[in-house]
Amino acid sequence: MAEGELHVVTGAFGFTGRFIARRLLAEGKRVRTLTGHSRRPDPFDGRVEVAPYDFHRPAALAASLRGAAVLYNTYWIRFPYGAATFEQAVENSRALFDAAAAAGVGRLVHISIINADPASPFPYFRWKGVLERAIGDSGLSHAIIRPALLFGHGDIMINNIAWLLRRYPLFAIPGAGDYRLQPIHVEDLAELAVRAARQRENLVLDAVGPEIYTFAELIRLIAARVGSRARIIHLPPALAFFLAEKVGRMVGDQLLTRDEAAGLMTNLLVSAAPPSGWTRLGDWLAENAASVGASYASELERHYR
Ligand SMILES: NC(=O)c1ccc[n+]([C@@H]2O[C@H](COP(=O)([O-])OP(=O)(O)OC[C@H]3O[C@@H](n4cnc5c(N)ncnc54)[C@H](OP(=O)(O)O)[C@@H]3O)[C@@H](O)[C@H]2O)c1
Repeated sequence: MAEGELHVVTGAFGFTGRFIARRLLAEGKRVRTLTGHSRRPDPFDGRVEVAPYDFHRPAALAASLRGAAVLYNTYWIRFPYGAATFEQAVENSRALFDAAAAAGVGRLVHISIINADPASPFPYFRWKGVLERAIGDSGLSHAIIRPALLFGHGDIMINNIAWLLRRYPLFAIPGAGDYRLQPIHVEDLAELAVRAARQRENLVLDAVGPEIYTFAELIRLIAARVGSRARIIHLPPALAFFLAEKVGRMVGDQLLTRDEAAGLMTNLLVSAAPPSGWTRLGDWLAENAASVGASYASELERHYR
């Protein structure tokens, strides 16, 4: 195992955590991941140490963090399902922060979401806001990185939009589709996280790419890049959401949550701050036109089966 400074990444065999871990390994850091899927195929050929999410055993959780200079936290649930609730995810995250403080971790880099707010009417954004407060109160030196929508190898949303556009003759945009979003490449997010780990002051940073799209523009861009011939239509949001639920049932997944749709349609996925990412979605789509959306990416498959 490598000898460098120890950095712990939650979810290094998942999506965002994988890109953070890859950067750290390239910098010669010793990397450990905490995960609920320790038997998932290891993309790092054994170079990443693995420990379980011991949320209910504080001493074991602290032991898995002892000696770490930095904890990068990607842990969160996309939507409540079965026994998994946002309230439980908040409790688990608090246990993680307490363990990091007890273990003397030097810096916490926490991946949140843009416009997280404890007063938000939308549960995902509200509970993320509650967690940000908990971090502020934790006494840990911290950076809170707040991505809008992520894209890159292994993402779910952009991939599945492309999959729908490839597969079906129609694509329904909820409403006018004039609500905006500012996607960021996962490699840019990983770089921002690693940079934030090197700083000492507490900070909160929106992680957003260089371009702002309306949802309708985004759909047309993806359609053009993957060569989709689907007819793009506008439907009342409730009807579009009903169709999304139907397709979700057909693929045994939840395609889009009400939270996500509401966040998108109320312009929560866009920042008033200058862009912090640099990779253009259109360029990335052009380079990955053959693979993006070639198969469906299932949230339930990844986390519940
Ligand atoms: N993806 C986006 O577009 C996006 C946008 C804005 C903010 N974010 C934030 O970015 C962070 C990383 O997101 P990601 O998409 O990269 O996530 P991910 O890799 O799929 O999951 C991140 C971590 O959370 C754990 N996890 C996810 N769902 C879980 C569930 N239902 N039950 C138990 N554990 C679960 C994973 O466990 P395993 O290690 O066991 O897989 C992994 O350790 C999250 O905090 C998310 O809120 C993501």
